Amino acid sequence: MNKLETIKQNVIECTKCELCKTRTNSVPGKGNFQSDVIFVGEAPGRNEDKNGEPFVGAAGKKLSAALEGAGMSREQVYITNVVKCRPPNNRVPNTTERDTCKEYLKKEISIIKPKIICVLGNTAFNSVLGGSEITKFRGKIARKDNQLYFITIHPAATIYNQELISTLNSDIVKLFDLIRELKNDKPVSIDIEYTS
Ligand code: URA
Ligand code: SF4
Repeated sequence: MNKLETIKQNVIECTKCELCKTRTNSVPGKGNFQSDVIFVGEAPGRNEDKNGEPFVGAAGKKLSAALEGAGMSREQVYITNVVKCRPPNNRVPNTTERDTCKEYLKKEISIIKPKIICVLGNTAFNSVLGGSEITKFRGKIARKDNQLYFITIHPAATIYNQELISTLNSDIVKLFDLIRELKNDKPVSIDIEYTS
């Protein structure tokens, strides 16, 4: 078993927080182990809990469409969440759950070593970078501990909001433009520097 398969197995069997009691399935990260980018959402919803896969419901469709708009497919990237089990009624995962589960995200990042991590929405922004007010910071490039981050809105926010669909789509296009520049060793300008 490779290292990511081991994490996947550990997530499937995990009972480290209360969410294990109410989940149907844990939802490990999924996608290309050699991806240049990891997308990080909040937590599984109903469809993800049922299927054991991240972003397979309505929000997932929006994410897939945004990727396609940038000439990418889900299979080419790696998609995961801060918290790997569905919180009851889709409530926002609490600090204990996030802190407990973040161990898995850290491992996913350290194995894949993405050029950039795309933070989707406020919960991921807050959990990963300590940020808030996603609408103010979306579209920006951040750096913390020598890791680059790209901040954008959560795909679920676009479900009933046509305007936000173009925001998400253009952010994702910007993200992949940036990744191409990184691959060509072009210098990128950092909008926000975080210190740990
Ligand atoms: N919303 C998320 O944050 N993650 C998923 O996997 C699905 C919906
Ligand atoms: Fe384990 Fe994370 Fe699921 Fe909690 S949410 S049981 S820490 S995998």
